[in-house]
Amino acid sequence: MQGKVRGAMEKDVFTTPEDKDLLSAEKLKGIRITKWAGTEIFCYPVLDSTNTKAKQLAEEGYPAGTLVVAEKQDAGRGRRGRNWESVEGAGIFMTLLLKPEINPNNASMLTLVAALAVSGAITKCTGRPAGIKWPNDIVMNGKKVCGILTEMSAQVDYINHVVVGIGINVHNEGFPEEISHMATSLYLETGKHYERAVLIEEVLEQFEKYYEVFLETEDLTGLVKEYNSHLVNMRQHVRVLDPKEPFEGRAMGITPRGELIVDTWESRRLVSAGEVSVRGTYGYV
Ligand code: BTN
Repeated sequence: MQGKVRGAMEKDVFTTPEDKDLLSAEKLKGIRITKWAGTEIFCYPVLDSTNTKAKQLAEEGYPAGTLVVAEKQDAGRGRRGRNWESVEGAGIFMTLLLKPEINPNNASMLTLVAALAVSGAITKCTGRPAGIKWPNDIVMNGKKVCGILTEMSAQVDYINHVVVGIGINVHNEGFPEEISHMATSLYLETGKHYERAVLIEEVLEQFEKYYEVFLETEDLTGLVKEYNSHLVNMRQHVRVLDPKEPFEGRAMGITPRGELIVDTWESRRLVSAGEVSVRGTYGYV
């Protein structure tokens, strides 16, 4: 099952090509050391979307920390109504259910908390840097290796539940032509196959750590410095694709509310994640 550890940062998470790296709730429960994340684990061969299933479980009364994992998604969803390529066994398709007692206006920052967790987990498991493209794409060598979709059900002043959906490209040996210039996988970056259960457990451990810091202030005050240290856009020229008025400037990090600070020739502007997307002036990053 496992190969040798190659560096102090790397976890013992290699799989051999013969190993099918199957996921099961038993396997995930067997290695679980988290306090609350993964308190209930549901693992399916196929789902339309792990986010949709997690929302359904939330409505049935399952607690915060419930984890949904699938080997394959028939209708995996990305941000802005896009699809998420979900090839059987190749990736991690997981959703964590949260029931935070916070102001609903603060919930969108959880997606940046999740980005920190995935970035940390990938670096710990592979020994390679995994940067964050604001707000929540995880990138290696300028290409996207993970996407995060956070969805919420709330009243005006009360959150029913939040689902944090995470898709990580793990074993993929290639991507459809239309996305191959901007998509990558852990295998393509490292030449190694990593065990998905160990990666999932590491994401949960890292999420618990950062979530605790987030809850202290209900914003990213305690995480800004660390987030900015992983931000691939930091001090880079970016194009802000605002549907009303696109503009360019230099990204200068995030605010405690998770907005991207962009300095233009005229002024400093704060960009909110829900409204726009950001590209490098010359490409995806
Ligand atoms: C994006 O970058 O557009 C976000 C992609 C999020 C994909 C994950 S895979 C697990 C979870 N279930 C979904 O349907 N989407 C998220």
